[in-house]
Amino acid sequence: MSLDPTTRQTLIDRAREVAERAYAPASRFPVGAALLAEDGRVFVGCNVENASYGLSICAERNAVFHAVAEGARRFVAVAVWTRCETPGSPCGACRQVLAEFAGDDCAVILIARDGRCVDTDLGSLLPRPFRMSDVENARDS
Ligand code: THU
Repeated sequence: MSLDPTTRQTLIDRAREVAERAYAPASRFPVGAALLAEDGRVFVGCNVENASYGLSICAERNAVFHAVAEGARRFVAVAVWTRCETPGSPCGACRQVLAEFAGDDCAVILIARDGRCVDTDLGSLLPRPFRMSDVENARDS
């Protein structure tokens, strides 16, 4: 999915801004994600950690759950900002959650601390995701 330059920059800016609101006292690794829904709306999420570490949620999943709660279920692009020197990449769990609501061609923009970007797509990050259709195919008719 090719993005127009203005939309692309909006996603980059929103991902960087929301990372400032990350709650990451355990890792000190703030992450920000900005999702573009098919209808043009942008939804953001940051990572939110917990003293019980396993309860922490990543920025990407936070953005997806926020978007779904607002009625958006199809995403065409996502930008992820980390403080990494080379752009950080979404964890496996977030790739799978994104794949529930996005196709292989969903644009993924990975942003480093200095603003340098790597452009990729969801299909490259997670080929052959497990899909709800796999669950449905296995049901007794
Ligand atoms: N984190 C994300 O927010 N997104 C990812 O895709 C990778 C990891 C967060 C989880 C945790 O709060 C911190 O980064 C360190 O793992």
